[in-house]
Amino acid sequence: MSLTKLSIHQFRNIASASLNFNSKINVIVGANGSGKTSLLEAIYFLGLGRSFRTHLTSRVVTYEAKAFTLFSEIIHHKNPIPIGLQKSKSGETLLKINGAYCKKLANLTQYLPVQLITPESYNLLTGSPKNRRAFLDWGVFYHDPNFYPNWSRIKRLLKQRNAALKQCKTYNELQVWDNELCVLSDQISSQRQAYFDLLIPVINQTLQDFLPDFSITSQFFCGWDKNNKSLQQYLQDNFERDKQLGYTSAGPQKSDLRFKVKGVPVSDALSRGQLKLFVYALRLAQGLFLNSFDNKQCVFLIDDFSSELDQDRQQILAKHIINSDAQIFVSVIKQENIDMLFGQERTVFHVEHGKITVE
Ligand SMILES: Nc1ncnc2c1ncn2[C@@H]1O[C@H](COP(=O)(O)OP(=O)(O)O)[C@@H](O)[C@H]1O
Ligand SMILES: [Mg+2]
Repeated sequence: MSLTKLSIHQFRNIASASLNFNSKINVIVGANGSGKTSLLEAIYFLGLGRSFRTHLTSRVVTYEAKAFTLFSEIIHHKNPIPIGLQKSKSGETLLKINGAYCKKLANLTQYLPVQLITPESYNLLTGSPKNRRAFLDWGVFYHDPNFYPNWSRIKRLLKQRNAALKQCKTYNELQVWDNELCVLSDQISSQRQAYFDLLIPVINQTLQDFLPDFSITSQFFCGWDKNNKSLQQYLQDNFERDKQLGYTSAGPQKSDLRFKVKGVPVSDALSRGQLKLFVYALRLAQGLFLNSFDNKQCVFLIDDFSSELDQDRQQILAKHIINSDAQIFVSVIKQENIDMLFGQERTVFHVEHGKITVE
């Protein structure tokens, strides 16, 4: 899977651009504020149907404009698929995939598996469990086709259960939700666990190059202590507490990944530069996994490539991403070192005040 063509209209400070991409390495060069992150954001939008900087479409559409439009060609299992997406400030969305209008933005996700790495990516390790669940679920989504239906169903169920929780007086009134909830929770947890068990060796392999001096343990927490009691029992026992909280405090919506060095969470044990390297290793491992286990290619968006990495680490990172068989979009402020890091087989784009030219 790769993005071969992209036309952008009125997206952030990019008024109009029509680009042909390299199927391997694309380097985006530009000064601060030129529009590099905006270009990556447009690609991310095609992959996931949303931005990584804001939930508000009105922020993404060019200030004076009404809507942004993206036209693209994506190679999906060797076939070129045209995809068009338009989103207006007033809330309308038009999505056309391979000539047919689609109602759901979620339909986009199967075409372009996008992995994003930004200078803030260490939030994956220092931020809330939600970030780590999103990381894990990205991989499970592409690995196991039964995961998404389970996950969407449980999201709806939990919403209904939380609403009912506020109104009911006894636990028995919740039982109707919990029977299905518990079956689905067990399925989702097994799907996540199975994927993570397969991913761990790939993570460990990648870590040998990125952080060779540390022995990092990785563990999946399913959202409740399975060895202690069943989820059904937890839900029943926590009824009064959950009622006060107004939400369900145990279940797959609380699952997490725990990474430790000598028993200490990595967020406390590693420096910021090391945390960044760890996140690179995690995301690369998912890209490698997708390629070797799921036979799909990942698209890496790497914003501010060299940020806080010394030259040796930059070299290691570049070597890994080049070898990953993924398509890569990497933004840099200065062009120096591009040849050393990425070789000659790459396309360089220059961005200046939202205007994008190919070298
Ligand atoms: N909705 C918008 N319309 C027009 N310009 C915008 C909009 N949102 C942000 N910008 C501007 O776009 C420019 C490019 O931002 P960005 O892509 O983050 O730059 P870079 O990553 O190259 O530093 C910035 O000057 C920013 O102020
Ligand atoms: Mg930027």
